[in-house]
Amino acid sequence: METKIFTEESIDEAAEILKNGGLIAFPTETVYGLGANGLMTEAVQQVFTVKGRPADNPLILHVNQFSMVENFVDKFHPLTEKIVAKFWPGPLTLIFAVKHGSLPLNVTGGLSTAAFRMPANEKTLLLIEKTGVPLVGPSANTSGKPSPTTAAHVFHDMKGKIAGILDDGPTAIGVESTVLDLSDPSKPPMILRPGAVTKEALENILETEILIDQHLVTEGETPKAPGMKYKHYAPNAEVRMVRQAEWPEAARWSENQKVGVIASPEILKLFPQEIEKYSLADNSIEAATRGLFAGLRALDETGVSLILAPAFEEAGLAVAYMNRLKKASNQKFWKN
Ligand code: TXA
Ligand code: MG
Repeated sequence: METKIFTEESIDEAAEILKNGGLIAFPTETVYGLGANGLMTEAVQQVFTVKGRPADNPLILHVNQFSMVENFVDKFHPLTEKIVAKFWPGPLTLIFAVKHGSLPLNVTGGLSTAAFRMPANEKTLLLIEKTGVPLVGPSANTSGKPSPTTAAHVFHDMKGKIAGILDDGPTAIGVESTVLDLSDPSKPPMILRPGAVTKEALENILETEILIDQHLVTEGETPKAPGMKYKHYAPNAEVRMVRQAEWPEAARWSENQKVGVIASPEILKLFPQEIEKYSLADNSIEAATRGLFAGLRALDETGVSLILAPAFEEAGLAVAYMNRLKKASNQKFWKN
C-alpha cells in the first residue's frame, strides 16, 4: 500500500478514507496518532495489527466537540464541565464510564469505561469534523518504540502499512497526554498517566488534591491504565539518565566510547567532537520533553549502543518527562 502525505488541501480525501475504514495518522500537540474510525470494529482491529499492540490495551477516542462524548456517556463526574472548559482542546484525556454496548469492544478493551480527548490541533479537529465520528488514535509508532513527534517518524514505522499521514510539522509538547480518571462520579479524579496537564495545574483549577496513580503493575494484574504496564519508548540502544551535576564527568568518560548524547548546546560543548549528538533547544524541561523521543530515534539511527539523556527533578512537566525517560532507560542512571 502506498502511504500518502496529506496536507490541509487534501484533507477531504483523508476524511473519506477514514469513513471507509482506512488508517490515517494525524498530528496533535503531544505526539502523532494512528487514526481510524472509532465506531468501526474492523478499522480499529487494523490499528492493533499495524502497531503490533496488545489487544487488552484500550484506545483513546479523539473528538472535535464535547457533544461527541455525550453520545456514549450517561453520567458525568461533577467536575467534568470545569475540567473541559479549562483544558479542552489540550493534552488531557478523560476516562468516563460508558453506556453498555455503545462502543466496539476493541476500543475499550472490554472495560466499562473509555478514554476521550480533544486534541489542540486545528487540522486534526477539522479532520474529525469532516469524518463525523470519533477517531481512535494511539501513538503512531510500532508498539514499544518511542512515540512519533514528526510525520517522518510515522513514515519510518508505518510506511506501506497505512493509507496516509496528515502532516503538520513537529509536535509542540513531545510526550503523550495526561490520562485523568473521572469514571466514578463519587471519587476524586486520579492521574493514571502524567502529561503536560500537570497535577499542579489541575489542583489550581479544581481546588482539591489530585492523586497520581503510583501503583507499579505486576505481571498478570489488570492495571487502571492498561498501557502503563508494557515496555515502552525503548530504542535499540541502552539509555542512561544523567543528573545535572554529572555532565562534566560523563563527558570525560565518553572519550573513546561509542555513545550518543541528548542535551542542550551548552552541555554538548563539554563532549568530544566524535560522539553522536542530538541538540535540545536549551536547558529547559520543555525543550527536553519536546526532544526526548525525537532524540532517541535520531541517535538510534546512528547505531550507537548507549544514549545519555538529562534527568530532571520530578515536579510539574518533569513528572511526565521522567515517567517516559525512566521507562526508556529501565530506571538506570549513568552513575548510581
Ligand atoms: O497524547 C496522546 O494521548 C496520544 C495522542 C495521539 O492523542 N495518544 C496516545 O494513545 O498516547 P495511546 O493509545 O498510546 O495511550 C492511551 C493510554 C494507554 O495508557 C491506555 O491504557 C489508556 O490510555 N486508556 C485507554 N482507555 C482507558 C480506559 N478506559 N481506562 C484507563 N486507561 C485507558
Ligand atoms: Mg503509545
